[in-house]
Amino acid sequence: MKMIVTGGAGFIGSNFIFYMREHHPEYELVCVDKLTYAGNMETLAPIMGQPHFQFVRADIADREAMYQLFEAEKPDVVVNFAAESHVDRSIEDPAVFLQTNIMGTQVLLDASRKYGVQRYHQVSTDEVYGDLPLDRPDLFFTEKTPLHASSPYSASKAGADLLCGAYQRTYDMPITISRCSNNYGPYQFPEKLIPLMIANALDGKPLPVYGEGLNVRDWLYVEDHCAAIDLILEKGTVGQVYNIGGHNEKHNIDIVKTVLHILDRPESLITHVTDRKGHDRRYAIDPTFIHDQLGWLPQTRFEDGIQKTVRWYLDNKPWWEKIVSGEYRDYYERMYAHR
Ligand code: NAD
Ligand code: TYD
Repeated sequence: MKMIVTGGAGFIGSNFIFYMREHHPEYELVCVDKLTYAGNMETLAPIMGQPHFQFVRADIADREAMYQLFEAEKPDVVVNFAAESHVDRSIEDPAVFLQTNIMGTQVLLDASRKYGVQRYHQVSTDEVYGDLPLDRPDLFFTEKTPLHASSPYSASKAGADLLCGAYQRTYDMPITISRCSNNYGPYQFPEKLIPLMIANALDGKPLPVYGEGLNVRDWLYVEDHCAAIDLILEKGTVGQVYNIGGHNEKHNIDIVKTVLHILDRPESLITHVTDRKGHDRRYAIDPTFIHDQLGWLPQTRFEDGIQKTVRWYLDNKPWWEKIVSGEYRDYYERMYAHR
């Protein structure tokens, strides 16, 4: 089994590579990553040069490079994690989101078709469904919820999902899609809520909460997401969308307070800043389908996952301190200095 994993130097892709090496050590994994600001070779350093693992630096939207790679490697399976993934950056500059998330997906679909890949899996997000009202806790996203994206990021992911559906139907391709809720865990870039709050709390810097902090996200430990994708690859039905989530809704402000509590830092570090434009109010996945069809259930309780995550950032300071002191510093200034 040879698997191309795109975006494997990023947060979820790298966790997926580690997960697959543990659970399927016989698989040959080819990680394809452009190494944007979000890709980090230090994450993959422990497995570089090891058997059954290859790293290729390339852009998924580069058709020639992808065709050459598929020609040379003849992959059985492609799992596409590669994406521009941060909503705030998409609000600042949408173009690269369309380029990577839509055009890149199209190139991978074309290459998968041309070289007869046995399964193409698209890693998507619950954000394609838009948001839910805060005062209707009875509503959830199911696989049948219409796409209704709010941000340039989620619109680009929705565009990619529609292309996957169209290629599956038109060319009868073996495509599956998963739409997961917010992930947390090791190796997440510190521009996202949880690692940003951990890094700021450790530095004694203000913790910037957008608006009142009452928006709700549905959090899943990254390893549970990886397990779900593995299961979909093994037992999933072609043409199917699978929602992945663990019924773990939290207000942002409560996440921030939990982080402060674990680190024993004062809540006075919390600062309320100008809200995100078009800010989605609530995400909440109904995971009934993947549970009933494939038997998937999350294994990590939030209380344990958040402890493990904070511990990981404490134990791996050099990993994120380099990021926080590098190019990312300019981004942080742009985003938060006058907010
Ligand atoms: P990330 O930003 O941490 O990593 C993205 C990776 O893709 C990086 O290594 C980057 O270098 C690479 N990349 C970007 N553009 C590329 C290109 N043109 N060609 C090749 N590589 C490129 O993102 P993440 O949080 O790990 O998310 C991975 C996937 O999961 C994304 O598709 C995202 O939409 C989806 N997803 C994320 C979450 C979440 O909570 N983080 C939830 C659901 C779905
Ligand atoms: P984020 O981690 O960017 O994920 P997403 O927007 O894809 O859900 O943000 C999670 C939530 O936290 C979202 O409601 C925005 C909020 N947030 C803050 O309040 N402050 C911050 O500095 C960041 C990055 C996010």
